[in-house]
Amino acid sequence: MTPRGGGIDDLTARTVDSLAGCPDPRLRTVLTSLIRHLHECAVENALTESELIACIGFLTDVGQRCSERRQEFILLSDTLGLSMLVDLINHGSGGHATESTVLGPFYAPGSPWRADGDAITDELGDAPLIVSGRVFDTTGRALPGAVIDVWQNAPNRLYAVQDEHQDPDNLRGRFRAGTDGAFSFRTSRPLDYSIPDDGPVGRLLRATGRHAWRPAHIHLIVSADGCVPVTTHVFDAASPYLDSDVVFGVKRSLVRTFVPHDPAVEPQPGGISGPWYTTEMDVVLEPVPAAS
Ligand code: BEZ
Ligand code: FE
Repeated sequence: MTPRGGGIDDLTARTVDSLAGCPDPRLRTVLTSLIRHLHECAVENALTESELIACIGFLTDVGQRCSERRQEFILLSDTLGLSMLVDLINHGSGGHATESTVLGPFYAPGSPWRADGDAITDELGDAPLIVSGRVFDTTGRALPGAVIDVWQNAPNRLYAVQDEHQDPDNLRGRFRAGTDGAFSFRTSRPLDYSIPDDGPVGRLLRATGRHAWRPAHIHLIVSADGCVPVTTHVFDAASPYLDSDVVFGVKRSLVRTFVPHDPAVEPQPGGISGPWYTTEMDVVLEPVPAAS
């Protein structure tokens, strides 16, 4: 067979054609689209050889920065808006169920089971917070036995998985909703934090004039039999970073006021000393669509 001509369009066509024998149709479709967009990006920007080498070096650094404790590719996907784009494509927004947001790199499965009302940490610190809510489905039916899996950062702004000085179970736990779908837990008020920025993703943020901060939040994964689980957050309405979250994870419906309470004027909840905060976060799950 004689080789085809040497133009740019022909190279793109030949690269796409090389997938003709791909047995997985989805892989072929997505890869075809990726090749077309990559080639278009290179042409549009007249990419130089040294820029290509720099891109490859950057992706190599991202891979080499990954470890048991660090997932630099998740940070890259999150900071480029790709994680939230995939979230929006798959979960949309504006329905009746609680909106989802990024999982992030700090989720560790197998959190300890805790009793309703328990603390998820031994150190409530100087800003104890009581979180309560109920789990419903979109028809308004309470979901007893729903599982609420929560995790958040400590007063030093680090998650237990990032910090060898914390107990691995600090500031995380699983709760079961009661007969009326209600749950509650105690914690320390989460703080705004910077995503890890001492690697290639941090370099990219700095090179592009961006900060690395996320608004204070608590992560939740809520699941119940017969319903679609949701991975979400409750965000602190007082955070200055709500409009500039480095991973674009904020949805207005997830923002809550953390209400201050003064022991001089209100009865103090047991186990808490000094001022405290409360917030409420009901969670609404979509029933699994009936099989047709
Ligand atoms: C987090 O909220 O834990 C998180 C999400 C995305 C990137 C880094 C951290
Ligand atoms: Fe987080």
